[in-house]
Amino acid sequence: MTRRTLAVVSAGLSQPSSSRLLAGQLAAGARRGLPGGGGGAVGLRGPAPAHPHNLLTGFPPAGLREALDTVARADGLIAVTPIFNASYSGLFKSFFDVVEEGSLADKPVLIAATGGTARHSLALEHALRPLFSYLHAVVVPTAVFAAPEDWGGATAQGALASRINRAAGELAREISRREPVTVIDPFDEPTPFEELLAS
Ligand SMILES: Cc1cc2nc3c(=O)[nH]c(=O)nc-3n(C[C@H](O)[C@H](O)[C@H](O)COP(=O)(O)O)c2cc1C
Repeated sequence: MTRRTLAVVSAGLSQPSSSRLLAGQLAAGARRGLPGGGGGAVGLRGPAPAHPHNLLTGFPPAGLREALDTVARADGLIAVTPIFNASYSGLFKSFFDVVEEGSLADKPVLIAATGGTARHSLALEHALRPLFSYLHAVVVPTAVFAAPEDWGGATAQGALASRINRAAGELAREISRREPVTVIDPFDEPTPFEELLAS
C-alpha cells in the first residue's frame, strides 16, 4: 500500500495558536481516511522573515526551502490562516507567493481559517478559494472556519468536529483517487561535464 503524504501549513501567530489547533484536527481527520498517511507540518511563524527575502532575491533560505519542498512533495495540502482585515493574513499570502509555479497543480487542498468573528467566514470563499484556484489546485468543497465560540461548549465543538470530519473526508478521497506525487529533481542525474563540452 503506497504511503500518502499531507502538508499542513498554518499561518497562526499566537502562542498557542487556534489556527495551528484547527490545522492539527483537520490533519488528524484526513489521516484517518488515508492508508498509512504521514507528512509534514509547516508553521509559517518561524521562517516568516524569509518570505520577503525570497521575493527579493529569488532564492529561499534553508528553512523556507524545506517548507516549499514539503508542500511540493505532498499528495495533499491543508492550508489554514487567521483572518486579518477580512482576508488571509499577509504571512499566509507571502508564503503562497513564493511557492514554485506548478507545485500545487492538481493537488487536493483543504482550506480553513480562524477568526475573531463568524461574520468573516466567507473570506474562505472570496479570498482563499480563488487564490488556490488560480494556483490550479483542486480545492475540496467544504472549507472550515472556526470562530471563538466554536471552541467552547459541547454543541459548538460537536458542530465544528462534524465540519472537520466532512472536509477531511473530502480531502482524503481526492488524494486517494490520484497517483502519488513524484517530484523530479533536475539535479538528480546531471548531464556529465564531458558530454556538455562535447556538444
Ligand atoms: C491585525 C489583526 C486583524 C484581524 N482581523 C480580523 C478580521 O478582520 N476578522 C476576524 O474575524 N478576525 C480578525 N482578527 C482576529 C484573528 O483572526 C483571530 O484572533 C485568529 O483566530 C488568530 O489566530 P491564531 O490564534 O492562530 O494566531 C484579527 C487579528 C489581528 C491581529
